[in-house]
Amino acid sequence: MTQHDPRTVYLRDYTPPAYLVDEVRLTFRLAPHATRVLSEIRFRPNPDATGRDFFLHGEGLKLISAHINGAQVTPELIEGGLTLDAPDASFTFEAEVEIDPENNTALEGLYRSNGMYCTQCEAEGFRKITFYPDRPDVMAPFHVRIESDLPVLLSNGNPGASGEGFAEWSDPWPKPAYLFALVAGDLVAHSGSFTTMSGRDVALNLWVREADIDKCAFGMEALKKSMTWDEEVYGREYDLDVFNIVAVDDFNMGAMENKGLNIFNSSAVLASPATATDADFERIEAIIAHEYFHNWTGNRVTCRDWFQLCLKEGLTVFRDQQFTGDMRSHAVKRIDDAMLLRAAQFREDNGPLAHPVRPESFVEINNFYTVTVYEKGAEIVGMLRRLVGDEGYGKALDLYFERHDGQAVTIEDWLRAFEDATGRDLSQFARWYSQAGTPRVHVAEDWSEGRYTLTLRQETPPTPGQPDKQPVVIPVAVGLLNPNGDEVVPTQVLELNEAEQSFAFDGLSARPVPSILRGFSAPVILRQEQSDETRAFLLAHDTDPFNKWEAGRDLARTNLMAMIQDGTGPDAGYIDALGRGIADETLDPAFRAQLLALPGEDELAQAIFETGHAPDPTAIHEAREALRHGIADRLGDVLSRLYDTHQITGPYSPEAADAGRRSLTNAALSLLSLTQGGDRARAQYRAADNMTQQIAALGGLLRIGEGEAELKAFEDQWSHERLVMNKWFGLQVAASAPRDAAATAEALTAHPAFDWKNPNRFRAVFGALSGNAAGFHAPSGASYRLLADWLLKLDPLNPQTTARMTQAFSTWKRYDADRKTLIRAELERIASTEGLSRDTSEMIGRMLA
Ligand code: PHE
Ligand code: ZN
Repeated sequence: MTQHDPRTVYLRDYTPPAYLVDEVRLTFRLAPHATRVLSEIRFRPNPDATGRDFFLHGEGLKLISAHINGAQVTPELIEGGLTLDAPDASFTFEAEVEIDPENNTALEGLYRSNGMYCTQCEAEGFRKITFYPDRPDVMAPFHVRIESDLPVLLSNGNPGASGEGFAEWSDPWPKPAYLFALVAGDLVAHSGSFTTMSGRDVALNLWVREADIDKCAFGMEALKKSMTWDEEVYGREYDLDVFNIVAVDDFNMGAMENKGLNIFNSSAVLASPATATDADFERIEAIIAHEYFHNWTGNRVTCRDWFQLCLKEGLTVFRDQQFTGDMRSHAVKRIDDAMLLRAAQFREDNGPLAHPVRPESFVEINNFYTVTVYEKGAEIVGMLRRLVGDEGYGKALDLYFERHDGQAVTIEDWLRAFEDATGRDLSQFARWYSQAGTPRVHVAEDWSEGRYTLTLRQETPPTPGQPDKQPVVIPVAVGLLNPNGDEVVPTQVLELNEAEQSFAFDGLSARPVPSILRGFSAPVILRQEQSDETRAFLLAHDTDPFNKWEAGRDLARTNLMAMIQDGTGPDAGYIDALGRGIADETLDPAFRAQLLALPGEDELAQAIFETGHAPDPTAIHEAREALRHGIADRLGDVLSRLYDTHQITGPYSPEAADAGRRSLTNAALSLLSLTQGGDRARAQYRAADNMTQQIAALGGLLRIGEGEAELKAFEDQWSHERLVMNKWFGLQVAASAPRDAAATAEALTAHPAFDWKNPNRFRAVFGALSGNAAGFHAPSGASYRLLADWLLKLDPLNPQTTARMTQAFSTWKRYDADRKTLIRAELERIASTEGLSRDTSEMIGRMLA
């Protein structure tokens, strides 16, 4: 379907714009149903263009009038925009259009959220605001005038004149239209300031509704830390007099990096100890950093076209990962990132939605803001850094910024900066951008007379549209341990670039134990025959924290696979090794909490599918619960000691050390509740003065079928806090027993607070439903039907969020005939619905292909 859809856009069809823009002036006369947008755009012929066809994008706009150089013109309105005979010289185009923000439920373009006006223009939303060459390779300075009675009127850049009912803004930095933003509302600011490395004072504001002013302090500190970090680590300074962040309740994504005016989903910025968990605080710190870092990687240097999305997103994710590592713990962050990559990106890569980090075609670009573009894109940057070293990376980035500041560039430009700065040939490495799929790396070992040989073989399974794969360059970080546990060969990076390659280590006195893919040095699946004894040895002795954790994870996975496929029970050997790990007081509590995290049910389903069997979600769930019971049984003493000794007595702080202790005690609590009942969790619930402990206690109770009173109390306590109520909705579905999940979700959709048009609330319920693997795949098919019903209801209003949520079905081909039939029926029901959005129809089409 993607291949033949007439609306498909191809990377290979790129042509430069016929006209460039020297300057834009916009005036907004805000009114809920009839906002007038006046534009004055100075065009100039592009000397590099091949034609002179003048085309402006425009969607859902009522054209009032248009002028060229002051003379009225009548443009021809065509599908997706307008054309007219334009001069082959510089000229000014003016237009007046009318739009209806109040009825804009897609949350793209100019829309309303709780009485405020706000915009979302990435990727192609600006065309819903006015006629414009809405493509990222057209960059221009913007001047904006907003007319409205609302007290706070914001746009990009520096503030200009303002007075009764109006405000003006000027952004001197040329930018593509997707970075445009406007906000108007009854807002209050939490303010701060920052002095940049060259001594420029920047006013910082976090704009929120009055009721949220107590949830801003953490975000403001995160912003300052981000600004300092980008100066210190990348030498990048902020470039305007103000930096504004606005929190909005209705938003399709996490946040948006509009120049000088970042707009955030309120869930990605607002936090107080009572309302946000440790995980929320960490996520908020990372997203604030991410959006701030885009100022250089995305805004000053932007993308030539949307196929290059990973140019800004992969790099900016990599930067925010480095930042979080520096602020907290590199080891813990790396493990979290690997868990996410495996759970979400490997899942995508192994199914019908697999696509290259730089896709070659799309129908709707919004469907390509994926874990592959973002997270695998970040892994590629990490591999580059490993291959050229820290110094080479620094030089390459300096060259990239120096060469391309103010430009809209491509992945080729990015790689050329690395080649020119380091002298390294990256032509084979570039395959990481064009080839989809997760490489498998198979390991064979040989030992004779003091020589240890590792033979690595790589192979990438076919993905849609790419039956044959080429070898990629895989940096494999390896260390060797002596049988006594000492490290004999410290970490070195082997470069696997052929289909199969051997690497020899000489002068060893005994056969070593290898620790391969240290630090998760490449986004690949390692296939290695390893005994449980070797894994337990690595869990005890590996000096690389990632592989130490990985050894425990491998043990858990092997045990779970045997329980599921052979009906065996929990393995005492694994549990005892785990017990030694979590009891080791030299280890970071956050790391020990990660040791206790078992592979997820979806990850196990994929692993079973790869052994050639259809996974049974119910059996997987039961095995995983049985192992949790087994751990709680056998390690009860250790767990209750950890629970008691790692409690924090002082006031709540979201910083990493305390958060790590809470994640350890909460992991212990969840296990202990299984075997010892709900008393401990009830006590924690009563005593909790922060959301992390309150919600963990509630979750522990719900998972053992208790906590009804607490659930009610929670609702009464938090009914006025939207973000907390999202947790209340989501947790009930997440903690439901598989057979109850669909009914729980359905009952919640009838709750008066289930505001389904709010993406956060919709996702709270249905994201949790698809995340409850055994509940989602319950044999009755009730969850499939319920989700499909609601997706069909949401699609006409908000195609973007609907399309994203169809991914719940993307693994359907793994399952048995009954489930496949049930899911296929829902996919076909959606596909055949009249008027289905382009977004959703592309996703369903790819899944059915
Ligand atoms: N560019 C945003 C980010 O990653 C994500 C986003 C995309 C937000 C599209 C809204 C719409 O930071
Ligand atoms: Zn981003």
